[in-house]
Amino acid sequence: MMKATAVAPSNIAFVKYWGKSNDALTLPNNGSISMNLAKLWTKTRVEFFPSFKKDEVWIAFFGEKSQLMQGTKADRVIAQVERLRKLAGVTFKAKIVSENNFPAGVGIASSASAFAALTLACVKALGISVTQKKLSILTRLGGSGSAIRSIPDGIVEWIQGSSSDTSYAKTLADETYWDLADVVLVVSTEEKKASSLEGHEAVNTSPFYKARLQTLPQRLKIVRSAIRQKNLQLLGEELEKEALSLHSVAMSCDPPIFYLNGGTFFAIQDIYELRSKNIPVYFTMDAGPNVHAICLQKDMQKIRAYFEKKPYIQHIFTSEIGKGARVIEEKR
Ligand code: DP6
Repeated sequence: MMKATAVAPSNIAFVKYWGKSNDALTLPNNGSISMNLAKLWTKTRVEFFPSFKKDEVWIAFFGEKSQLMQGTKADRVIAQVERLRKLAGVTFKAKIVSENNFPAGVGIASSASAFAALTLACVKALGISVTQKKLSILTRLGGSGSAIRSIPDGIVEWIQGSSSDTSYAKTLADETYWDLADVVLVVSTEEKKASSLEGHEAVNTSPFYKARLQTLPQRLKIVRSAIRQKNLQLLGEELEKEALSLHSVAMSCDPPIFYLNGGTFFAIQDIYELRSKNIPVYFTMDAGPNVHAICLQKDMQKIRAYFEKKPYIQHIFTSEIGKGARVIEEKR
């Protein structure tokens, strides 16, 4: 029996990965920075066994029994297992059992945590010995680029690189460094109409994409420096500009891609309102309408209570900065 279980966090990007130079290798057009979310994670168990007849992917949605997955979602998982199996020279089929600790279908991306947990569990079960840098590279090859940043601990940078071996993730500051928090404001639970994949593929149809790329080296510098100084205002102002830059590109694609909705703009207005009352909190959105309110831990409950009363809010999750992917069980 070759078996391992891993847990990996979701992450929220401060500087976002948007657009790639190589689809097969998932090489990004820019470096990106995110923080891991301690309270939102995926746990995945992988077993390889000679008597298994075929690969099976089981997912237990929050509060529900495990169900057998089929179609594109299962195919993407199996493709990553196959890549790692080849590397290890193993031919046994696999059973993959995965669960999220947050409800599925509430519009919080789970592919970053899912692909990070899957890759680490496979690598351990197969006995592939890797450095953390190499593990991040193997995770990136799974196709969910942002999953690379769920491997190292804390606040993480994905170094753009120029080849498969130089595009990897590393910790900028560990999870104990800064008492930052994320209040995730879920304003829609509908499946988004355009996937991130479609967004990455459409970037060159936006006349603003080149201009966005030109701003990013300076933005990365500012965000690294804000983290070094633990300066929330500097970080917050920059991450708001960054979110608006990404969504301006998406909306100016041909045809346009809208990830934001009315609830997003209500939440942004209310974040400005909180700031006018001297509560330091800043917004960012990934490829979806939900708003991440980045703040200090000491203000997290106050901000949550404020938003709980708003009619446009459907769910709220709160989280501190978390560790990266880790193994919780291994048997070989
Ligand atoms: C806007 O290609 O990693 O979240 O596989 O759907 O998770 P999924 O998306 P991926 O693109 C992520 C885009 C982003 C920004 C970011 O996380 O950097």
